[in-house]
Amino acid sequence: MPRDTSGHLVPGRLSAERGVPREIPRPEYVGRREPRPDGHGDLYTPEEIARIRESGRIAAGAVQAVGAAIRPGVTTDELDAIAHRYLIERGAYPSTLHYRGYPKSSCTSVNEVICHGIPDDTVLVEGDIVNVDITAYRDGMHGDLNATFPVGEVSEPAAALIEHTREALNRGIGAVAPGRPVNVIGRAIESYARRFGYGVVRDYTGHGVGASFHSGLVIPHYDAAPGHDRLMEPGMVFTIEPMLTMGTPERPGTAEWDLWNDDWTVVTRDRSLTAQFEHTLVVTERGADLLTLP
Ligand code: MF3
Ligand code: CO
Ligand code: CO
Repeated sequence: MPRDTSGHLVPGRLSAERGVPREIPRPEYVGRREPRPDGHGDLYTPEEIARIRESGRIAAGAVQAVGAAIRPGVTTDELDAIAHRYLIERGAYPSTLHYRGYPKSSCTSVNEVICHGIPDDTVLVEGDIVNVDITAYRDGMHGDLNATFPVGEVSEPAAALIEHTREALNRGIGAVAPGRPVNVIGRAIESYARRFGYGVVRDYTGHGVGASFHSGLVIPHYDAAPGHDRLMEPGMVFTIEPMLTMGTPERPGTAEWDLWNDDWTVVTRDRSLTAQFEHTLVVTERGADLLTLP
């Protein structure tokens, strides 16, 4: 536990709720069923961008701190405790905590989990891969990133999936430029991923972020043209967060998924490995400026 006889994950047990000091301001959705519609829009002033960068810097530090603790024997809940403590010690609220009922301060997505894995008593073992996704809310702004880490030594295909997914995010970032439609981002990601026969997850996307956790702006990771043709503009802030899967031989390029009964954990339908990387960025005259660097 929590693995089945074929080594696939099964839901584990959640630890008690982690508290956040009263003096740390909460996002508006805490204590509500769902967030209010975004009231800001996706364009930000330099002063606002500086605030998103500060939230992003804190979130990136938390991902680094969690990454440094990843080893065989650690539980995903222990990783969540590190993330939670790192954020609140810096005056930031863990944006995922009580977002639409989500119960933890990070997402930890192991092996076949595409995204939104809930930290629990799952023990990481040598050869696993685990994505850590952390969003920090401070001074009215969210900064959102994630990275996938190997646990001890991993297989050659698993290591390659991690590195190719990191590069797929880089390709998406490289496609960012003012005056281009946002669908060029996914085109760059998908054409890179297909070279290796990976699937690209379509139903979870990048998003506008800043004053809201998810603004409503959608950034696909596949070629969605002629849809999703909003033009990028300087000052526009959003995430890119491709999820790649080991392609199934029958249907290369597809990435079918199932949802666990917890209504959060998204797994590949064939239980094949999947990896993800994410940054928050602002569009500039010259391209993309990353806002989630440590
Ligand atoms: N951080 C995730 C994203 O990249 C969202 C997690 S929402 C949660 O958009 F509720 F699952 F935590
Ligand atoms: Co995101
Ligand atoms: Co995220």
